[in-house]
Amino acid sequence: MAAEPSVRSNAFIFYSLATVSFIETSVPEFVSTLNQMYGEDDEMRVWLQETWLPEEVEHGRLAKDYIARVWPEFEWQAAYDAFLARYKPRCDVQYMRPSLALEALSRCVTETQTAMIYRCLESYMPVEELKQMMHKLSSEEVGHYRYFRKTFDRYNAVEQHGVISRLRTMVARSELVRDEDIAFAFEPLNNFWRSPPPFETMTWEAFLEMSGDIMKRYMPVEAATRMMFKPLETGSWWRDRPVKALMSFMVKRQYPQLGSEA
Ligand SMILES: [Fe+2]
Ligand SMILES: [Fe+2]
Repeated sequence: MAAEPSVRSNAFIFYSLATVSFIETSVPEFVSTLNQMYGEDDEMRVWLQETWLPEEVEHGRLAKDYIARVWPEFEWQAAYDAFLARYKPRCDVQYMRPSLALEALSRCVTETQTAMIYRCLESYMPVEELKQMMHKLSSEEVGHYRYFRKTFDRYNAVEQHGVISRLRTMVARSELVRDEDIAFAFEPLNNFWRSPPPFETMTWEAFLEMSGDIMKRYMPVEAATRMMFKPLETGSWWRDRPVKALMSFMVKRQYPQLGSEA
């Protein structure tokens, strides 16, 4: 399939797909860490190995292949290696949550965020092929979220973390995704070109601002709030209502440009 000129000259699509391809391709680094943490849990280990890992790696491959086809002058492997050198130490077990329930909960946050980012990108993309790719990615992230939520419920039945400690975990993780994972992935993107890119390059700040605008336009705030709120639900309305309001606030705060009308 030939590349649409509108896609090839669109810097935002390049940066989005490249960050997606880097973060998703690096998932095996996490699997070994999670395997260490959940070493006793056979069911979880099988799921990580047979479902989660292949699906995430495939997400990375789809984005990477698209980039190779549309921006062949971008040196993906060299740029990925530069990203991984900085990112890999952050996947170490010492940076994981102190408990199996809370680690599963923080994975719920990441899966929700990625599902929502892909939903927004699906709406934004100007061509059918990219819309379909983003649709596939977001529905699989929702599947991952469901599994991690089930895992959280299972472990929390024993660990019994209260709403405050769950909230703290979720807020901490949600800041990490924006500030760290995507920032690390963005860093090498302007440095590895065989010939000048077919668009005007963007700075991290400009990319963040544009992402914010696109999220503001397309973010399914309701769906995101529902997913983030689920693991916090206690069943008593006087407790759940303020927590749900807080989650909605948090979803909007993810992208500073998401105003009150979103
Ligand atoms: Fe993924
Ligand atoms: Fe995922």
